[in-house]
Amino acid sequence: VATNTAAILSDRAHVTVLGPFGRDARDQVLRSGADVVVIATTSFLAQVADDIHDAVDAGSNVITTAEEAAYPWGNDVGIARQLDALARSRGVSILGTGLNPGFVFDAMVLTAAGVVERLDSVSVERVVDLSGFGEAVLSRIGVGHSPEAFADGVRRGTVTGHIGFPQSMRVVAGRLGVEIERIERDLEPILAVQEHATKALRVKAGETAGFRQRYVALSRGQAWFEASFLGHVAPVAFGEEPRDAITIASPSGELRFTVSPGTNPQRASAAVVANSVRRVIAALPGWVTVGELPPATPE
Ligand SMILES: NC(=O)c1ccc[n+]([C@@H]2O[C@H](COP(=O)([O-])OP(=O)(O)OC[C@H]3O[C@@H](n4cnc5c(N)ncnc54)[C@H](OP(=O)(O)O)[C@@H]3O)[C@@H](O)[C@H]2O)c1
Repeated sequence: VATNTAAILSDRAHVTVLGPFGRDARDQVLRSGADVVVIATTSFLAQVADDIHDAVDAGSNVITTAEEAAYPWGNDVGIARQLDALARSRGVSILGTGLNPGFVFDAMVLTAAGVVERLDSVSVERVVDLSGFGEAVLSRIGVGHSPEAFADGVRRGTVTGHIGFPQSMRVVAGRLGVEIERIERDLEPILAVQEHATKALRVKAGETAGFRQRYVALSRGQAWFEASFLGHVAPVAFGEEPRDAITIASPSGELRFTVSPGTNPQRASAAVVANSVRRVIAALPGWVTVGELPPATPE
């Protein structure tokens, strides 16, 4: 899949796009030996590990949008090490990227940190319009549920909110040499006061139209990285304008970087992936993170 990324790359004269491909073409694509294989299927490392393995084994660099792949050592060190070693042996690289993780909560934070002598703490806040997501993603992140089903899904792990904050935090920490002691997390539903229809889903009044999420990474007993995410299928009707904002604290005070209107989750993610093709080919072999690579840029 990765239909939007394929569309962007198709307009680039020096790139030959073979896809997008669905499930039925699994072996054809993963065994193609293409310079780069893009895997945009699920969020979970364990569910993309075999696909990454086969593509790397066939000599392809891999970009995946699976959020857990942005920093795989935090989820399953065994999978991360095995695929890292395989990639090194084949002389290719693996990169987990997109917009979030992949840009707003990590690459952009590291760029912002370039203007201070020391980064004492960082806070990143996003308000996101969720209306462009497909049904499977909406249901999994927590939209369209009764309050009881939402709470039950959170307990069972089938409702996750947005995935990827610990991964972004670890990418930034790794690059800055910060040790994270623990990460606290909180996820609460936002109930619809009126009906909302998206292209994929109808949310009735009283069901979840979105959620608020907050992650705090602690280092040396202090809050070091705070990530806040408000996702809603109709944020403006809810009184919130989509935006991305980074506040960095340093010995010279606080600096706030604001992106307004906020980055579009579908278009910007596809652009980051398309703009990562050149840098993943040029990267050193192994499993790399956006914290180690130059910025993703259009060509
Ligand atoms: N890092 C980031 O910022 C970022 C950005 C964008 C997306 N993502 C993540 O990337 C994933 C894909 O995003 P999306 O918006 O494209 O999701 P989507 O709308 O749910 O599309 C996923 C597609 O992948 C297919 N698929 C699922 N598992 C597959 C497998 N094992 N083999 C082949 N095809 C498979 C699905 O087919 P079926 O319909 O048959 O299941 C569907 O066509 C999501 O988990 C999303 O959270 C991350």
